[in-house]
This record gives sequence, C-alpha cells and structure tokens, in this order.
Amino acid sequence: MPFNLENRFDPVERGDVAQLRELQLDRMRWSLTHAYNNVAHYRKSFDAAGVHPYDLRSLDDLKHFPFTVKNDLRDNYPFGMIATPMRDVVRVHASSGTTGKPTVVAYTQNDIDVWSSVMARSIRAAGGHAGDIVHVAYGYGLFTGGLGAHYGAEKLGCTVVPMSGGQTEKQVQLIQDFKPNIIMVTPSYMLNIADEMERQGIDPKSTSLRVGIFGAEPWTQTMREELEARLGIHALDIYGLSEVMGPGVGMECIESKDGPTIWEDHFYPEIINPETGEVVPDGEYGELVFTSLTKEALPIVRYRTRDLTRLLPGHARPMRRIDKITGRSDDMLIIRGVNVFPTQVEEQILKIEALSPHYEIHVEKDGNLDCVTVRVELKPDAAGADAASADAAQELQHRVKTHIGITTKVEVTVPGTLARSEGKAKHVFDNRPK
Ligand code: DLL
Repeated sequence: MPFNLENRFDPVERGDVAQLRELQLDRMRWSLTHAYNNVAHYRKSFDAAGVHPYDLRSLDDLKHFPFTVKNDLRDNYPFGMIATPMRDVVRVHASSGTTGKPTVVAYTQNDIDVWSSVMARSIRAAGGHAGDIVHVAYGYGLFTGGLGAHYGAEKLGCTVVPMSGGQTEKQVQLIQDFKPNIIMVTPSYMLNIADEMERQGIDPKSTSLRVGIFGAEPWTQTMREELEARLGIHALDIYGLSEVMGPGVGMECIESKDGPTIWEDHFYPEIINPETGEVVPDGEYGELVFTSLTKEALPIVRYRTRDLTRLLPGHARPMRRIDKITGRSDDMLIIRGVNVFPTQVEEQILKIEALSPHYEIHVEKDGNLDCVTVRVELKPDAAGADAASADAAQELQHRVKTHIGITTKVEVTVPGTLARSEGKAKHVFDNRPK
C-alpha cells in the first residue's frame, strides 16, 4: 500500500497559531449567527443576555455569550435545537444519561463528513494509516462511539471490524483471527477483553494489536501504564461528547502522549470556573466548555461539559491540548466535606501490585456520617490470596487516607466477583439518601 508522507497531516495540523485564530474567528461568527437565526432557544438566550452575534469582534468576546447546558437540550426534546430543516438531517444519536429524557443530537451530511475527517485525523494521530485493520468495540447504535470510530477509520482507508460492545469471548476470537492492528474501545472494557484472553490461555501481549484508542470515560496515567504493559501496545486517549460531535473532539498524538489535542479548527475550547462561570486563563483547572465552529444541524454555543481539566499549549500540533480529565463535576463525591473523584481512588489501587483495576466505590450514610467502602479484586496471579488480600486492603486504606484524605473500608475480593462493563464502567454506587 503506497503511503504518502506528504498527506500525513491536514494543513491546519501544520499551520501556525495566528492563522488558526483567524480561522476560528471567522467560523465562530458564522456559527453564532447560524444558531441565532435558526434556533429559537439561542435567539431567546442571546436576547436575554443582551448580546448579538455582531458583538463578537474577537474570540475573547465569546465570554459575553450565554452558556448551554444539558437541560437546554432536554427541554427542547427531541428536535427543538436543530438549526436546519429536518430533510437535511441524515442522522441522529442520543445519550440516555442516568436521569430524565435522552439528549438528542443531529447531523447533516456535511456534519458527518467533518466528523469522519476529524476521526480519521485522530486515528492517524494515534499512528494509524490506510491499510490498518481497526477493531471497533465501542457500542454501535444511539451511542456515538461505534459509528463515529467506524466512519473515521473507513475515511482513513482502514479495514473496519464493526464488532460493537459485548460478547467478550467473540471479541477475543476476532482479535485472534482477523489480526487487527488497532482497537477502539473504552479502557475498562479493554481490561475485560484482556482478562478473557488470559482465561483462554492467550498472552494479551502476543496479539497483533499495536495501538489502543481509549476514551468515553475518565482513565488515569497509571491505567495507561497498566494497559501498555499488559497488552504490549500504545494506549492513547480520545476525547469527545455527543453534544459537541461524538468521539474525536480531541485526540492524543502518539509522538507525545501528553493529553488530547483539541481539533480547534472545529471545536473552540474554554475553561471556566464552574462556580462563577468566569473564563480562567490557559493552564488553570476548571470546567471545559465548547463552542462548535462548523456544525450545521446542531450548532452548540458555550456548552458546559461538566468535565474538569485544564488547557495546555500545543505540542505535537499547534492546537491546544487538554490535560487528562480528572472527573466530571457531577461524578465528584463529597465525602465528609472532601471532594473525591473515582480516578483518584483508581490511581492508588493501581499502585498496589496485588490489586487489579476492577473496583467499585460504595457510599452509605451511617447516621450523619458518610461511609465509603472500596471493593477491589485481587489480581488472578496474586500469591497466597488470604495474606495478600489482607496486606493489600491495609495498604489501600492507608494510601487513600494519606493521598486523598478520607477513611475507607476496603474489601479485597477474589478475581471475577465484580460486575464487568461492556462500555462505560460504573465505578460509583452512591446510596446516600438524596
Ligand atoms: O463518550 C463520546 C466518545 C466515544 C468519546 C468514544 C470517546 C470515545 P458521551 O456518551 O456523550 O460521548 O459522553 C461524553 O464522556 O463529557 C466525558 O465525561 C466522558 N469522556 C469521553 N471521553 C473521555 C476521555 C462519548 N477521553 C462524556 N476521558 C464526556 C475522560 C471522557 N472522559
């Protein structure tokens, strides 16, 4: 397969930042005008805030425009946020969330083409190229993961195996038989597939896989090390959300592995203080907010993702990166006044040799007190199970107390006892009365 190095980058991946800012301003003007003229919700919310798309003279003026939140999409269920005639909408996706009506998102043919291009760019940033075989184990259907990955991989010229999530034994069989180079899946489901390989007597390092493109849920740097060592692959982080597009809003580059580069020619990022709504400077932590620059069917203005991270300068590409997402503001547990993210607990678990990355955090009320139990599985090969589990429990309790500042009960269980995810993992069970 001829592989033309000249075509390895979209021009914007090589352009300079000043040019990018000009392009963003042009596109942002178009996007705000399109939203204002064609979506009643935006007309109302801009008018109420006393702003008009003409007021955008610089990118900095974006801060005067109102935020959009998930409830705005719910309140306009199903198609009220769509800015084009329905006959121009070629696809919808929806995310169910934990409560309430699903949020519906929509795409024109042009939107699908842009999405496929940024996904193709993402797979290429992960070291993929035409001729690779890509095993897609993100769920297909209303979730954006499967189809988003699928169209991007096809666009790049790869051979796609549209496996979807679930049927773990079959996942392993197809990896053995079709010999994919790249797998696209949630990091937690990758662990389950690796467990299944071991159960079948296959060394996870021995497969044809070279790269894993992991996302849709928060995962830590320690988890990257675990996945890379266990599977002998490069583990790279892909970020996205349905309201903004789906997977491929940002992608980590294989040459730097230092956080997803946001494809800023299509998605404009800001970080705000979640309490005050003020924009904070690059480098400071806060909530990630996105404005779409080119989307036709569902333009989105200052969408509050609830994801907590910070913006970092461009490195492998001129566009800015995000740091690993520490968690979502709505996943954050407040335990006796201390803010705790599941990823912080994951980090401590993975520092203990005998423990596997399969864990659950249960929170209960005992009178007025919050009580936390961490359930975690021992690794299948942890020697002398009883002694190992007592030691590991004590060490984890100590680490969580020292590094996070909360007292926990730790239950170390035998391998295979905790429920496995086939998509996004559920780590937190908060049983406190609301
Ligand atoms: O999860 C889109 C996606 C599919 C991204 C496949 C990557 C791979 P939603 O179901 O709308 O869309 O959920 C979006 O998932 O706001 C984050 O909280 C979380 N999330 C997605 N990617 C990452 C990541 C898809 N790389 C929500 N790291 C987002 C941490 C992530 N969290």
